Amino acid sequence: MKKFLIVGNWKMNLNVHEASILVKRLDDHIKINRNVEVVLAPNFLVLQPIVREIDKRKFKLAAQNAYFVDEGAYTGEVSFSMLRNLVDYCLIGHSERRIYFNESLEMIRDKVAAAVRNNIKPILCVGETSQEKQDNETKRVLHDQVTTALANLTKEEVNQVVIAYEPVWAISTFGGSKPAKPSDIKLAIDWIRQILSELYGYSVSKDQTVIYGASVEAEFVSDILSLEGVDGLLPGAASLNYKQFSQIIDATTKVKI
Ligand code: PGA
Repeated sequence: MKKFLIVGNWKMNLNVHEASILVKRLDDHIKINRNVEVVLAPNFLVLQPIVREIDKRKFKLAAQNAYFVDEGAYTGEVSFSMLRNLVDYCLIGHSERRIYFNESLEMIRDKVAAAVRNNIKPILCVGETSQEKQDNETKRVLHDQVTTALANLTKEEVNQVVIAYEPVWAISTFGGSKPAKPSDIKLAIDWIRQILSELYGYSVSKDQTVIYGASVEAEFVSDILSLEGVDGLLPGAASLNYKQFSQIIDATTKVKI
């Protein structure tokens, strides 16, 4: 049976105390399941205390960002080498980082390489804005984002990257109210796999973990995860609510593939 990856992106929410309460509630409501890997992505401050609180058989941790240089005069930054052994994953290139913090394609490429160098799996977020969608630019945008982000990896390293298709226009904080249509998700994810196949060959493309994020809620889980080539989900808002997040996990365990 297929193993799905579900990543809760908490964004800039929850202080240490609130995060600890959420983890306890999630622990009560989520069972260990061999077919679902559950990853929580809290803010930096929460990562260190939470690593001691989580049941590691149930939850893994992701950072939401990090800097590509290992140490030095970069006031305010946290490096991937500092996150080594603390997290398994790190979100890279989330649209909020690209849009609010002007992260360029090249910076994202360097972050992806730094994560892999430090034994942290990048969760590379890619996706078009509503303007780019209107202009029929989705394929070009995904092509540019995927090819540059992976450019400094070897073929063997590419499979350590999780690619998350997150259409910006469907993300709740950018005004999205429901996920992209399954047919649109399928088109985008097939395209991502085609790009990978052309660059690195069919077997890399087939083995790549590709997930979907944007306005994910439990009611949509089965339709999205039943699509061929979709390996998991990246809920944001719904991951802050223990009922909603555990319902998403529950719905995932019921998907038959
Ligand atoms: P959302 O966020 O589920 O609240 O739309 C997803 C994301 O931004 O990763």
